[in-house]
Amino acid sequence: MVKKTVRDIDVSGKRVLVRVDFNAPLDKEGKVADDTRIKAALPTIRYLTDNRAKVILMSHLGRPKGQVDDRYRLDPVAGRLAELLGKPVRKADDCVGAAVQALIGEMAEGDVALLENVRFSPEEEKNNESFARQLASLGDIYVNDAFGTAHRAHASTEGVADFLPAVAGFLMEKELDMLGRVLGAPAKPFVAVIGGAKVSDKMAVIDNLLRQVDALLIGGGMANTFLKAKGLEVGKSLVEADKIGLAGELVRKAKNSQVELLLPVDVVVAPAATPDAQSRVVPAQNIPADAMALDIGPETARQYGDRLKGAATVVWNGPMGVFEMESFAAGTMAVAEALAESGAVSVIGGGDSAAAVHKAGVADKITHISTGGGASLEFLEGRALPGVAALQDK
Ligand code: 3PG
Repeated sequence: MVKKTVRDIDVSGKRVLVRVDFNAPLDKEGKVADDTRIKAALPTIRYLTDNRAKVILMSHLGRPKGQVDDRYRLDPVAGRLAELLGKPVRKADDCVGAAVQALIGEMAEGDVALLENVRFSPEEEKNNESFARQLASLGDIYVNDAFGTAHRAHASTEGVADFLPAVAGFLMEKELDMLGRVLGAPAKPFVAVIGGAKVSDKMAVIDNLLRQVDALLIGGGMANTFLKAKGLEVGKSLVEADKIGLAGELVRKAKNSQVELLLPVDVVVAPAATPDAQSRVVPAQNIPADAMALDIGPETARQYGDRLKGAATVVWNGPMGVFEMESFAAGTMAVAEALAESGAVSVIGGGDSAAAVHKAGVADKITHISTGGGASLEFLEGRALPGVAALQDK
């Protein structure tokens, strides 16, 4: 990796300010419902404590819009982190100021503290310089391990790096290496599976991947806009009318670049996207006027599975249908299983596709499941991530 990491600096006895992405879902009781992101930060935290650093963690949780909001306090996260580390985590009630300075002043080497949600301060998302300086004053070294938030140019992800030696943590390093492999020199055949509801979210990533891939498999609600661009009728299905032209352009671009672009040949339709709606399979060219396509059909799943089985590298972002509902989950599950069996280097952009491989019970067969949703998408679009650009080069 081109960026310096915690291995490249001496952290012993230093106050190390670490930006992590502990934006974890909480359940109704306010407990951490999924600790994937907390676990993903453990290698960096353990390395720092083992090397006698004082570890000061900071994160956002949710979108409290610059206001203190008790629902987004990081106390449940501190509790779960302490369990996972098997040692106490000192939780501050703010992220800057005298009380925080005092708490840090009491830390011994190897101690871990977690600051309060940085997004309680309106200056965070504005990347305010004096707020970034206040954060920087808490540490001697800055480590960014928050890949999931690296696409945000905020004070704790970007601004603070102006005032401290700034390096990457191990999670950041792993994410950049794995996602970088896909955009760098991927083993061929390279297949991308792109799904999700809206084509507008995925246009840029498709456009960038078309330079690299041998085949592009399209599913999810966004496939309807492509079907429409090919002149098919899609009934009541979700379509982004203003993106039909762009979808047509991507189809042409794929053809010119000799990329095989596969669209659903059959779909699961129902009158509405509800769990008990009567569903049936129809050919993609026969979607009834009063129905909506909510999953790829079995023949499409078989064709996509065949392409995946022959692939050496696969990147997957976005489900094939409304997989949260059993009636419309089969296509996404089939893709997850085919990917797991493929033996390909498989990289999954976070969010829904990550949830899908967990639901299919094949997560352990995937080479890399990114902890970033928006961040992995922006990376795959070929954009520089501000939180990465701010770190020191090797
Ligand atoms: C995420 O969950 O994708 C990251 O934590 C970033 O959160 P944000 O979209 O609220 O900036």
